Amino acid sequence: MGSGAGIGTPIGGVGTDIRLRELNLSDGRDVFDMLHEIPPEENGFMNSAHELSFEQFPGFLRKERDSSEGINLDKSRVPQTIYWLTADGKPVGFGKLRHYLNDSLRRYGGHIGYAIRPSERGKGYGNILLKELLKAAKCRGISEVLLTVAEHNTPSRRVIEANGGVLAALSDGECNYWVRLV
Ligand SMILES: CC(C)(COP(=O)(O)OP(=O)(O)OC[C@H]1O[C@@H](n2cnc3c(N)ncnc32)[C@H](O)[C@@H]1OP(=O)(O)O)[C@@H](O)C(=O)NCCC(=O)NCCS
Repeated sequence: MGSGAGIGTPIGGVGTDIRLRELNLSDGRDVFDMLHEIPPEENGFMNSAHELSFEQFPGFLRKERDSSEGINLDKSRVPQTIYWLTADGKPVGFGKLRHYLNDSLRRYGGHIGYAIRPSERGKGYGNILLKELLKAAKCRGISEVLLTVAEHNTPSRRVIEANGGVLAALSDGECNYWVRLV
């Protein structure tokens, strides 16, 4: 199981059982279905699993697990870990945590990317997902997290600001936010 407070354990109090957990090689059809619902690209967030067949899905999981461990990484990539957010056991969204920045991510991409499946948006899950990803980042020893977001992406900007994001730069329609993890 993954790193980070709250990972794999219920988040919050009474009500919906919300959990963040690391991608696992045994992930199955429920995660696959969520990945099919989330568009392949949206506001710069890439979902490379959108087009996969179920037969290709285990290969995707293996590749992402390897990437998390820094195995077989292209020179232009840094290690990245994927986490699923579940509500009462149902996958509702996912996030990517890059373990450190390179020049490219510093310009565009940042440490964290995330998406909630369209049918589950507007229920507060985006806020919870980022909150838990920030905890995971802290557990990995990251003290300041960079998030880049399109100026027009109001839902995501609200999520970032609700989680302590401070706008450090806005140019060419792209915002850079930093979250200090204390
Ligand atoms: C950004 C995203 C994760 C938000 O997920 P969500 O679960 O719908 O977010 P929440 O329900 O937690 O709502 C977040 C805030 O956005 C607001 N919001 C939601 N939809 C909105 C809309 N269409 N217009 C304006 N504000 C909106 C909510 O009111 C809430 O603000 P509040 O907390 O101040 O009330 C989701 O829209 C998504 O997956 N988008 C596509 C991928 C993406 O853009 N990722 C971010 C890349 S930086």
